[in-house]
Amino acid sequence: MSSNDSERRVVSGMRPTGRLHIAHYHGVLKNWIRLQHEYDCFFFVADWHALTTHYQEPGDIEQFTLDTVIDWLAAGISPGSCTVFVQSRVPEHAELHLLLSMVTPKSWLERVPSYKDQITRLQDFDLDTYGFLGYPVLQSADILVYRAGNVPVGADQVAHVELSREIARRFNHIYGREPQFEELAEAAIKKMGRKPARLYGKARKDYVERGDTEALERARALLAEQQNLSIGDRERLFGYLEGGGRIILPEPQALLTDSSKVPGLDGEKMSKSQNNTLRLREDPVVVEQKIRTMQTDPNRVRRNDPGEPGKCPVFELHEIYSDQDIKDWVADGCRSAGIGCVDCKVPLIDAINEEQSQFIERAEQFENNPDLVRSIIIEGSEAARDVARETLDDVRSAIGISYR
Ligand code: TRP
Ligand code: SF4
Repeated sequence: MSSNDSERRVVSGMRPTGRLHIAHYHGVLKNWIRLQHEYDCFFFVADWHALTTHYQEPGDIEQFTLDTVIDWLAAGISPGSCTVFVQSRVPEHAELHLLLSMVTPKSWLERVPSYKDQITRLQDFDLDTYGFLGYPVLQSADILVYRAGNVPVGADQVAHVELSREIARRFNHIYGREPQFEELAEAAIKKMGRKPARLYGKARKDYVERGDTEALERARALLAEQQNLSIGDRERLFGYLEGGGRIILPEPQALLTDSSKVPGLDGEKMSKSQNNTLRLREDPVVVEQKIRTMQTDPNRVRRNDPGEPGKCPVFELHEIYSDQDIKDWVADGCRSAGIGCVDCKVPLIDAINEEQSQFIERAEQFENNPDLVRSIIIEGSEAARDVARETLDDVRSAIGISYR
């Protein structure tokens, strides 16, 4: 696999927390749905990750996983355009996790910001475990096992992706060095033919000596178009550009996209544990009832009191669901007390139900046929394994435990 393939590949995971809500849709899934058409995407349910915190009372993880996948499909994730699977169905994640754990300094894990943070925040759970400390190593394995260049995540996960870069770098540093790396790299350069060899040599020199990153890009593009290099030679030459050895596990980067912030029904952050959510595939009657009782600007007590949309979570939903005309109508009517909150909510209820109707329609065939969902998961997991196995073959051989 060349660096170019790695740049095209995307991996992301979600824990199985049961039914998803509209904040998942607007914050995460809409982004995934766009990416599935532009990249080679791997999306999985991180069921082992759920156990790192909830090992004592796992609940029905399997049902939660099925519900999560049905919500993905309902939202528009398409198994024809990306690979959808379940982490524990791809045991290569665990093997790579083990091998990465050998090279990961303990201090790196203790320094991950979420580590101490979660231990104090989740007081009800005993998180003084090996599994919880190693959680970011597992996440690194999830990413590196697909040699993915891009990881779409929220801001809270960026530190984890950073760590996976450091682990990859350390792994490549330790195991990417072959005994005669330089000789092999120089021999590979000759195989490219005179002109490309000269261009590669010059670009490498410009990068190594002057840090010219454009030269680095040029050399990478040059390598990508070489037809007569073996995979091993190509990887060697990618690695030689940056001075080190062979790149076995390319470094991924976080793909941060700005997504809409969705308020909960009480105006706080939408979250299952806060009981303030609107689920995907929610019944229209329930949507109407939940929006009707949703928190408004607290200063607007009576119908005649003017309100301030900037202080109202209902308006935040209008920002997501309504066009400019409706937003103007709301803002003017609210500030002048020309409309009541009940009026204001009517077009919102309609817009949400309109969106939900597609989810409900898409989900129907899966709700009626759980075996169909299971077969999507099994097929996706097999496809993911094919890729993961190749990485592990390479990893084992780099370490020297191939037994072939
Ligand atoms: N840790 C992530 C979360 O809690 C989920 C996750 C697990 C993940 N493995 C991943 C995300 C790999 C991106 C890539 O949200
Ligand atoms: Fe909020 Fe709309 Fe009521 Fe204004 S009119 S307070 S924006 S619900």
